[in-house]
Amino acid sequence: MSTSAQLRAALVDRLTEDGALTGPEWRSAAGAVPRELFAGSYFAPVAGSVPTGFRAVREGEPGWLEGIYTDRTLVTQLDGATRPDDVADETVSGSPSSSSTLPSLVLGMWHQLDTGAGQRVLEIGTGTGYSTALGAHRLGDANLTSIEYDPVVGGAAAAALKAAGFTPRLIIGDGLRGDPDGGRYDRLIATCAVRYVPLPWLHQVKPGGRILVTLSGWSYANALALLDVTGPGEATGRFLPGFTSFMIARPHDRPPLPALDLLPGEERPSRVDPAALDNWTGGWVAQLAAPSAVRMGVGAQQVLWDVSTGSQARTAPAPDGGWTVVQRGPVRLWDQVERAVQRWQAAGEPHQEGFGITVSGAGQRVWLGAEDGPGWDLPI
Ligand SMILES: C[S@@+](CC[C@H](N)C(=O)[O-])C[C@H]1O[C@@H](n2cnc3c(N)ncnc32)[C@H](O)[C@@H]1O
Repeated sequence: MSTSAQLRAALVDRLTEDGALTGPEWRSAAGAVPRELFAGSYFAPVAGSVPTGFRAVREGEPGWLEGIYTDRTLVTQLDGATRPDDVADETVSGSPSSSSTLPSLVLGMWHQLDTGAGQRVLEIGTGTGYSTALGAHRLGDANLTSIEYDPVVGGAAAAALKAAGFTPRLIIGDGLRGDPDGGRYDRLIATCAVRYVPLPWLHQVKPGGRILVTLSGWSYANALALLDVTGPGEATGRFLPGFTSFMIARPHDRPPLPALDLLPGEERPSRVDPAALDNWTGGWVAQLAAPSAVRMGVGAQQVLWDVSTGSQARTAPAPDGGWTVVQRGPVRLWDQVERAVQRWQAAGEPHQEGFGITVSGAGQRVWLGAEDGPGWDLPI
């Protein structure tokens, strides 16, 4: 049987070979932090279950440690309350609300943040504390502050960090408000997603500093952005390659949805193939265009439902080819989405790397190509 140190060394080798782990400092951090201290028992998805069901994998059971040292996200809480040790040996359902993010992503983000010894970093979303431990190993405890919203999750992370020998500054609270007592930081890294960049962050990070955060929304489409803080309260940046997604920050999540009644409305042909929304970037473009809508459905049959106004749009294949859309309510959701998708298609359907973002007290805008190109305002 392999020991934790052996499994950890093998994971470091694999991540290095894949190119996910670069630089001796982060390799050394990954080799030093025992992930099992942070994840503990976790939920594993049950293969083939729709919607995804989970099974608790308990600390010490056969396969538990091997699971810890796979490059996978380990869900550690469902629905803001349920921990793996709270459930019996059965398949449970729920929405993941805390996790230990997959090591390649966490290490890749620390690398992309381009931070080093002596810099002060604010992390939002302590979660299990695994990414915090990696950061503390590299930066030193005194240079790292981490904020966690959920007191139970934050308490467990504090105990795990202490057990692993790290003592960064830990705060339980809403990280979207920043760290008012913490002074200016060189970097901010978020391991939960946001609908827009919280304004306190733009004052918390020094001009010349950086913010690395995933932008998400109520359709849960995600894009990782790296912003340079250009002045007090101002930042601009680009979206990065890859397919990063995070659970959305709790205060930015959509409200609970009532049961959906599909109602009649105005019908017309659709000018775009609705399946464009199944593309990683296509779905994100649709979310930019209809930021308070929830998207359901797949392929030619998409449903958009605006949480704020109750407006609906639903598409279907037309009997003689093409597609139709039925819209209802004060917001013509498909008109907005169709226009945005057409612009994206006219630009050659670039991945999110082709987009940038500019934020200030005056507003927040995601743009395609260049800052003066087509753009969409984020809902602040
Ligand atoms: C994906 S997990 C973080 C993973 C973590 N970095 C790790 O390596 O284990 C996201 C965490 O963000 C927390 N979170 C959500 N909203 C937050 C907020 N407004 N402020 C601080 N933390 C928040 C969640 O409770 C959850 O624990």
